[in-house]
Amino acid sequence: MVKVETADYPIYFGGEGYASLGDFLNEKQYSKLLILTDSTCNELCLPHFLAHLPTTIPFEIVEIEPGETAKELSTCEGVWSAMLDLEFDRHSALIAVGGGVVSDIGGFIASVYMRGIDCFLVPTTLLAMVDASIGGKTGIDLQGAKNVIGSFSTPQLVVIDATYLETLDPRELKSGYAEMLKHGLIYDESYFNHLKAIATVDFADIETLIYHSVVIKSQIVQEDPHEAGVRKILNFGHTVGHAIESYYLTNPAKNRMLHGEAIAIGMVVEAYVSTVILGLNWTAYQDIKESIQYIYGKEVFSETDVEEILQWVKFDKKNRAGIIQAVLLAQIGQCSYNQEVSKQLIAKGFEDYLK
Ligand code: GLY
Repeated sequence: MVKVETADYPIYFGGEGYASLGDFLNEKQYSKLLILTDSTCNELCLPHFLAHLPTTIPFEIVEIEPGETAKELSTCEGVWSAMLDLEFDRHSALIAVGGGVVSDIGGFIASVYMRGIDCFLVPTTLLAMVDASIGGKTGIDLQGAKNVIGSFSTPQLVVIDATYLETLDPRELKSGYAEMLKHGLIYDESYFNHLKAIATVDFADIETLIYHSVVIKSQIVQEDPHEAGVRKILNFGHTVGHAIESYYLTNPAKNRMLHGEAIAIGMVVEAYVSTVILGLNWTAYQDIKESIQYIYGKEVFSETDVEEILQWVKFDKKNRAGIIQAVLLAQIGQCSYNQEVSKQLIAKGFEDYLK
């Protein structure tokens, strides 16, 4: 069985992971299981999950709305209230079956319900498989600012079953792919070169690619689980990307932008900034920009859009005393964190993105 063993919990790959999940649940003799999912996943993924879950522990399914707008405190309150009404005690456990939002909010809900119950993650989107379910970050948004409330709380076990990707919208697949490109850009040049040639990537072998990304992320997290230092590199593209996401989330005139789509733009803008601050080679920057714009297209931003997006950068969790501290690339596959960046330089990055 393919497995990545982190310091705190195992990550199982493929359908065989359900047997390990079942063994773990049965051994712990949880009083009850809460299966947290969203309405889309309830319809598309839960039948497969329930058919493979080998346990006789009683369970309840609680469904939240799909999408990033559900990732807020009122949703948590709803789930906690349901748990109380359904008499979930501190010997119960939560299994989050869904995408990034379900993983992030499910982990948070479990981490504080009755001061913390056990949590299991079964990611069903590419984004959740390569990013949200790995590393023990939980979180919700506040007034549009991304993940500003949350905790570090590791799950007991993760099952990554790529079968769920068959139900996924291609746009969602590309959203997760952005985090994989990020893993190449910050850590492994040959992985980036492989992924950027998307036309030749063999998606029949997606589990191998997911495995590679999970290994990269797990290694970085292992070194610095609470993001005091090196874990920050996993935020490449996120200083700008989260600001774009927040702006789109709170602006009714804008269409929905997926997390990975925003991060893809953020990576181009932050790569431009890297050329100025860390001397990233211009050819490497052009390569990043062209590869990303080939896969994701080019979003149009007006001057007002850019000004508004820059207002959101102040909520980035890596900032210190109002100074923006981004992750920048010295070269493809090598990066540095805590790099001071001005809003003017980010604005120039947007200018070049639009050229
Ligand atoms: N998504 C970035 C991290 O988990 O650190």
